[in-house]
Amino acid sequence: MRRLAAGNWKMNGLRADLAEVEALIAAHPAPGCEVLICPPATLLAPMAALAAGRLALGGQDCHARAAGAHTGDVSAAMLADAGATHVILGHSERRADHGETDAAVAAKVQAAWAAGLTAIVCVGETEGQRDAGATLAVIEAQMAGSIPAGATAANLVVAYEPVWAIGTGRTPTLAEIAEVHDRLRALLAARMGDAAGVRLLYGGSVKPGNAAEIFAVSNVDGALVGGASLKAADFGAIVAALAG
Ligand code: PGA
Repeated sequence: MRRLAAGNWKMNGLRADLAEVEALIAAHPAPGCEVLICPPATLLAPMAALAAGRLALGGQDCHARAAGAHTGDVSAAMLADAGATHVILGHSERRADHGETDAAVAAKVQAAWAAGLTAIVCVGETEGQRDAGATLAVIEAQMAGSIPAGATAANLVVAYEPVWAIGTGRTPTLAEIAEVHDRLRALLAARMGDAAGVRLLYGGSVKPGNAAEIFAVSNVDGALVGGASLKAADFGAIVAALAG
């Protein structure tokens, strides 16, 4: 399977920052992995024009409905129309800031699939849940509730993002990452029969300095990168590490 380096710009990025994408493409014209950037929705169309197919683009959320009276929301079809092929769903910041439940995430995944987008579904435990020994149970429940029937290797990517590792500079041990990723693969296999092709991303304080060791962990097929995806030099180093 082709590994995936996904950048999540979160609520960062103005048109001036398109220069970072230009620099990334210039420095890595033929990356050995798939490269995806999920900018704010306002930058999707100009970034698509700039990228001209040389990297993939994604949204960071979508509404569960295709259209309608939902002020301020963006539909999956709108993301696709602006040039996205992917959408991040159920990120812990959405779950925390907007009270998104597993059921809400599952409805959004269905909307994404209906619009032809690949859903990047995020799961991960809080620090309290890890300390309580509940990590695998939390992830199992999130997987069961957030991913509707119909998942395939083409329409689903799963990102394991421990909440306490996001933006903190802290990461789980490699053994802890392996434990979760092995479980994710087994959970998907139980549902789908063959889950070998579903890409499993690790996310949470991935940096140029720790990328290579994380990518060597079993069942890690790429990364979902926040802060370090904003600068071409950092994200390019992660892309290079992923390509091996
Ligand atoms: P971080 O964010 O790389 O800044 O920790 C990761 C994410 O939230 O996707």
